[in-house]
Amino acid sequence: SKINLKDYQRPSFDVETVHLNIKLFEDYAQVNSTLKMVRQTTGDIILFGESLELLSIIMNDKALTSEHYQQEDGKLTIYEAPDEVILDIQVRICPQTNTALEGLYMAGSGDDTMFVTQCEPEGFRKITFYPDRPDVLAIFTTRLEADKRYPTLLANGNLVEAGEVADAPERHYAIWQDPTNKPSYLFACVIADLDVLTDSYTTSEGRDVLLEVYAKSADIDKCDVGMQALKDAMKWDEVNYGRAYDLDRYMIVAVSQFNMGAMENKGLNIFNTACVLSSPETTTDARSFSVKAIIAHEYFHNWTGNRITCRDWFQLCLKEGFTVYRDQSFSADQQSSAVQRIDDVATLRAHQFAEDAGPLAHPVRPESFVEINNFYTTTVYEKGAEIVRMIANTLGPDDFRKGTDEYFRRYDGQAVTVEDFLSALSITDDKIEDFIDWYRQPGTPVVSGSQTYDSAAQTLTITLNQQTRHVKGFDAPKPLPIPVATTLFDKDSGAIVAERMLLLDEATQTFVFENVASEPVVSLLRDFSAPVQLNYDYQDADLAFLLKHEINGFNRWQVTQMLVNRILLQSQGAKSSPDVYLEALAQTLPVLAADDAMLAARLLDIPSAQELASAIPQDYDPVLVKEQRDGLYQQVADKLKDQWATLYNDLPMQSYEDSAQARGIRALRNVVLDMALTANVEGAADWAQQQYDHASCMTERFGALKAMVNHQLPKANDYLTDFYKRFQANDLVIDLWFSVQAAADDVTPDVIKSLIAHTDFDWNTPNRVRSVIGAFSSQPTVLWTAEGLKMYTDVIKKLDDANPVLASRLLQVLARWNTLAEPRRQMAHEQLTDLRKNVASKHVLESLESVLGAA
Ligand code: ARG
Ligand code: ZN
Repeated sequence: SKINLKDYQRPSFDVETVHLNIKLFEDYAQVNSTLKMVRQTTGDIILFGESLELLSIIMNDKALTSEHYQQEDGKLTIYEAPDEVILDIQVRICPQTNTALEGLYMAGSGDDTMFVTQCEPEGFRKITFYPDRPDVLAIFTTRLEADKRYPTLLANGNLVEAGEVADAPERHYAIWQDPTNKPSYLFACVIADLDVLTDSYTTSEGRDVLLEVYAKSADIDKCDVGMQALKDAMKWDEVNYGRAYDLDRYMIVAVSQFNMGAMENKGLNIFNTACVLSSPETTTDARSFSVKAIIAHEYFHNWTGNRITCRDWFQLCLKEGFTVYRDQSFSADQQSSAVQRIDDVATLRAHQFAEDAGPLAHPVRPESFVEINNFYTTTVYEKGAEIVRMIANTLGPDDFRKGTDEYFRRYDGQAVTVEDFLSALSITDDKIEDFIDWYRQPGTPVVSGSQTYDSAAQTLTITLNQQTRHVKGFDAPKPLPIPVATTLFDKDSGAIVAERMLLLDEATQTFVFENVASEPVVSLLRDFSAPVQLNYDYQDADLAFLLKHEINGFNRWQVTQMLVNRILLQSQGAKSSPDVYLEALAQTLPVLAADDAMLAARLLDIPSAQELASAIPQDYDPVLVKEQRDGLYQQVADKLKDQWATLYNDLPMQSYEDSAQARGIRALRNVVLDMALTANVEGAADWAQQQYDHASCMTERFGALKAMVNHQLPKANDYLTDFYKRFQANDLVIDLWFSVQAAADDVTPDVIKSLIAHTDFDWNTPNRVRSVIGAFSSQPTVLWTAEGLKMYTDVIKKLDDANPVLASRLLQVLARWNTLAEPRRQMAHEQLTDLRKNVASKHVLESLESVLGAA
């Protein structure tokens, strides 16, 4: 059943304190809780609970029987409660068979077996009956008891006591207390046998904090990148937002089975191993960089999410959008800020724009949902971050800091809304409140524009208009406030003539620049100043000019992307021959390669087949798009054929170093290697083997392996075997081994079937499922076939009951089936209709309803 934002009501009871006692046994766990509750409004006590076996409820020392309460649809309602109650509740749960990875669940196997929790958004109700909603804040005390084979017993806050269990010499316990008021979704505990890496940090307020990263012993040598990132993030938040850490201990725990990236539980973050472990030999640079970003992201939540939390789950973007903006800003300080912006925008365009253009489009703050897990989307996270960025850029650094200081001052310790956030940020400028419409209105605005130059008056007039598609079920779209960062370049000298932030907040507006001596070239939307699609009446030559003269690295990339899109989306009315693009690249690349290798690597980006598909509103033919994409890639490779050898040799392999420059060289070398193989450059196959054999790190080794596999080099299979043998014991590297095969250019459904049949494939490990199934979905020509779709939807069927969160996410990849050309469209429709008959989770059903609603 649907829940609506407009129906929000305050809880009838608050919880002051919670005492949890979790006793883990061989095949179940017993959970006793004591809640001290106080009435806030009229009404019954409402507790939520799922997959719980209720043993007893005692209210104010009186055992309750079924006439005092009702249990229905995951809700337990207690009638006629007095204004102050102590509830004692006993339940039994079964973490050992919990494959949904929500609540308390068992992960790993054999000696690596461990028990961990994931409570956001509504997993706590799988541990015990509780008013499991983010606006109920309480002080938690947690006692954990287990067999001594699990020496690691962790929960939020401070350790207050630990010891042996009387009468059970093989068991022990620990008691933890969290002094901060928190919602139940931030509860966490861990029962395991882990090693720990320890460090410390002294905050700007003089607090000495113990820092701990827990992992299984074989992985403890891969925790120092994360530890360093944690210390960097702690410092960064003090400097940039005036926020210091507030407890004496900060723990991070690595777990191999996890639905998402990581979770910001108070003082006890739980991380997918893929998002915390990192070492040069086993982790690519891109992965390692994202480890740092995710560590920072979870740390930043301590203020934006934990101390100030969300009133209800409709406000998810309040904590996620702001926290993503903060982690992106942190990352921009760790590498070239242009490359950071390129990567963030590339992700936004590839995933969020596609989501916003299809049947799963929803506002950054949704207005209704069946299953909130379906809304941990790129729209909530990444578009949410773009809104905060627009606000920050509109205010400028000083006023933005005043606004965030006010936000922390006013709302610390509370559960609040997006409106509260905007009201704090608008203390220096009321116009900020207008950004509320960005949270309410789905769809990507399209900004179109043109210019006229008046040589007599020496004025340049830019006309911009905005248009957003009307998404079914929502009000007609209104104009939004769109900041368009604009710079004029002199056509002869390439010098900057003027620079302005234009605020487009009506349907159509004109902006006049005075004293412009000759018609300039206009660079728009610098640093992607708003999350919009831009259509400006550029000539190819203007774009080539900007590639040469723009000083903003992001915009140099953006013009290459515009050129590529104009070439590849001809059928969508675009119009460009590749010549200008190829010529401009040939001139720019060699110079830039020596200067900023990472940026040079990005300039060779051609959008993925899926991203191109998302720009095609109907009759999408995956084979044609792939041919065109591959064709352009081939042209680039051929155009620079004589230069790849020089470029490759000018980027020599060196001993490993984790600097932005060294990472840039490795990234560009991998791109150049692939280009050289594409152009059939003499000897390039040997470069690949040499690079693999003498690799100083995973970026080099995996880059070479991937190139060998994608170009089907004769030795590719031997190298795949070698790679497997070398890294057999390391799950995360074996994930790479699976994914390089599943995403290979020549993959077939049979290859995928054989990977699924491999002894190392495991349905219970989301990372492994994604490494095969997720990777496979990057090949639309295979996915969108009868066999491909059958296999893909069979996977969703299989996971529907076991892990509905994962199943629903995999399904979302099929959202744009409706734009396919026949007969594929019909084929997809049949498979999706058939899927509907074979699934039961509300997660998958809600997504499927939307996806099929597109018909
Ligand atoms: N709050 C976490 C983060 O963004 C994500 C947890 C989402 N978990 C889930 N089951 N949907 O860092
Ligand atoms: Zn987050």
